[in-house]
Amino acid sequence: MSEDELYSPRNPWFSISVGVTAAIAVLSAIVGLIWLPLLQPDLKLSGIWDAICSAAGVPNLPRPAAAVPPTFKTSNVVVTPEMLTRQDQVSIGRGATLAQRCAICHGPQGVSDANSPNLAGQYAAVTYKELNDFKTGARVNVVMSPFAANMTDQDMRDVALYYAYLPRVPSSQLNPGLPPPAIVVTGAPLRNIPPCGSCHGEIDIKAGSPWLGGQSAVYIKAQLQAFAAGTRRNDISEQMRNIARQMTAEEIDQVARYYEAQP
Ligand code: HEC
Ligand code: HEC
Repeated sequence: MSEDELYSPRNPWFSISVGVTAAIAVLSAIVGLIWLPLLQPDLKLSGIWDAICSAAGVPNLPRPAAAVPPTFKTSNVVVTPEMLTRQDQVSIGRGATLAQRCAICHGPQGVSDANSPNLAGQYAAVTYKELNDFKTGARVNVVMSPFAANMTDQDMRDVALYYAYLPRVPSSQLNPGLPPPAIVVTGAPLRNIPPCGSCHGEIDIKAGSPWLGGQSAVYIKAQLQAFAAGTRRNDISEQMRNIARQMTAEEIDQVARYYEAQP
């Protein structure tokens, strides 16, 4: 028998051995890739394709559950460093007129005698964001919310630019020599608290972080307690809530007195 005749389909031994090998290959594929995986009760496979993937080593991760939507309103403002940084005289003028309604509480010059927050010299992006959050209900305050309720987007921009244009006025508690508490300059790394100054100004200013200098201690304390308790929850990504929850009552007191004494 020549070589040609040996490897030809006419040689029954050759066709039978090729056929048997192919049959074994198909059978082992079915057993290994489909049957055995399907026999494993804890794999919970939903079909043949799943079984093949599982045998091939594709990790069978649980399908992510749909993200749980929060049961409360969250802020819809996207703060960027460029937001409302351009001084626009027309806007500022309109803002000044609109701000007359706000003077009883926030002061005619944006500096409050009562414990409402000072707005003079506040970053426009912050004032705009807070107004917007009061309007949408992401931040709630019985006194303040009604005043934001019927402002248009343009009104909020104008008022924000107006207050940003007013000069900051030092508080009656001014004491620039007061040393900053440790939490302002170094934070508390073991409790995941970054230094306050890394966002609020001593070290760096991050867009959307309010200017705190000269703000009344009563207001600062109330806000930190509200963040800690979750009654104020308009901070994007919970950045302030996560910090306030980890602060001690003494630290809250210290930062409130420190920021009140700053220009
Ligand atoms: C009756 C008093 C009152 C009036 C009038 C009022 N506000 Fe307020 N405002 C408050 C109080 C109180 C707060 C603090 C709310 C809190 O504790 O969450 C506040 C907070 C704010 C804040 C947030 C400041 C921050 O640093 O987070 C902005 C911005 C603001 N008011 C703007 C305005 C504007 C603009 C007007 C006028 C259209 C106005 N307010 C009218 C009492 C008032
Ligand atoms: C990662 C940046 C970041 C750090 C660090 C940080 N803050 Fe804030 N803070 C913010 C932002 C952003 C807001 C505004 C939240 C919002 O959108 O209303 C805010 C708001 C506040 C307010 C409310 C001010 C107002 O006018 O409404 C207080 C008070 C405050 N922070 C105090 C602190 C203190 C004290 C520390 C340090 C223990 C601190 N923050 C650390 C980013 C930061």
